[in-house]
Amino acid sequence: MELTQPAWEAMLPKRVEIIEVGPRDGFQVLPGFINTLDKIRVIESLIRAGIRRMEVTSFVHPKAVPQMRDAAEVVRGIKRNGCQCFAMTPNLKGAERAIEAGVDMLNLVVSASESHNHSNVRRSVDESLAGFPAVLELARQAEIPVRASISTVFGCPFEGNVPVEKVLYVGRRLIEMGCVELNLCDTTGMANPVQIARISQEVLREFDGVGIVMHFHNTRGAGAANLLAAMQNGITSFEASFGGLGGCPFAPGATGNVCTEDMVHMLHEMGVDTGIDLPALLAAVREAEGALNMTFPGQVIKAGRSCDLHPLPTI
Ligand code: COA
Ligand code: ZN
Repeated sequence: MELTQPAWEAMLPKRVEIIEVGPRDGFQVLPGFINTLDKIRVIESLIRAGIRRMEVTSFVHPKAVPQMRDAAEVVRGIKRNGCQCFAMTPNLKGAERAIEAGVDMLNLVVSASESHNHSNVRRSVDESLAGFPAVLELARQAEIPVRASISTVFGCPFEGNVPVEKVLYVGRRLIEMGCVELNLCDTTGMANPVQIARISQEVLREFDGVGIVMHFHNTRGAGAANLLAAMQNGITSFEASFGGLGGCPFAPGATGNVCTEDMVHMLHEMGVDTGIDLPALLAAVREAEGALNMTFPGQVIKAGRSCDLHPLPTI
C-alpha cells in the first residue's frame, strides 16, 4: 500500500516532549571532573533554549560515580526559570540527599534484567523494588513527585533478550507504589523499531493513564529510527542528551543517547513541535563543547541545519 502524505502525517503527534538528560547520563561517563560552575552554566543555557524538564545530576555513591559527587551544589546553583529539575536517586540515601538539595522530582532506577541491576546497584530487582516504598514515603512528606527509569527494557548486555512480562511486572510494582511516570530505557542501544512498536503498544495498553517516556541510546545507530517507531505507536515523551553524550558506566559497550539537537532538528523538519528554540539549543551545545573542550558525537552541530544553505561554488 502506498502511503499518501496526509496519512503519513496523521500517524505523527503534533508535539512531543523532549526531556534533557545530558547533565546526568552524559556527564556521568566523562573521565575528567567537570567543575560545578561549568555544569551549572551548561544546564542554564539548555534551559534558556526551552528545555522544560531536565535530569540535572544523580545522587549516587560518590565512589561509584565520582563525576556526580557535586550533585547537591549543582541542584542548588541552577536558576531554574520554571524548568523541572530532577535527579536520579537509586536508593533512600540518594533520595534524602536529593530532597535536602531541593530537586523538583525524584527518578528511581531499577533494571528489567537481574544482571544489569546487580552490576548497576548491587541488588536483585526485587531488592531494589523493596527499598522504594520508603523513598516514596519520604517524597510524599516532602511533596515531591517520583518517577522511575527501568533500564535494559529492550535487551540486556549480559543476558540478551528481556521478556516483556518482566518489564510489565517491574512497571506494575512501581505504579502500585505511587510512581507517576515510567521511563523505559534502551540502556545499551539493543532495540530495533519493530520491537519498539510492539512494546510501545503493550505498555500503553497496560499502563493507561500513566506517563510513559522512552530513553534511547544510539549505540548501534538505531536511535532516530526507534524514536520514530515509538512516536508512530503513541509515545510522545522522549529523553535525549545534548551533543549525543551519554552511556552507562556499568554496562559494557554503552555509548551516547539520542542527541537532543539532532532529534529536535529532525522533529521540527517533520512538522512535530518540541517547544525548543533550535538555534538557541545549537548555540548552547557549541558553548558546551568549548567549555568542556570536546567534540561531541552529535551531527547537526557539525553539518548545520538542513535549512542553512550554502553559496553555490563559482568555478
Ligand atoms: N549517596 C551517597 N552515599 C551513599 C548512597 C548514595 N546514594 N547510597 C549509599 N551510600 C553510602 C551509605 O551511606 C553507606 O555509607 P557508610 O558505609 O559510610 O555507612 C555506604 O554507601 C554503603 O551503603 P549501601 O546501602 O550498602 O550502598 P551500596 O554500597 O550498595 O551502594 C548504590 C548502592 C546504588 C548507592 C551504588 O551502587 C551506586 O551509587 N551506584 C551507582 C549507580 C549509577 O549511578 N549508575 C549509573 C546510572 S544508570
Ligand atoms: Zn541512558
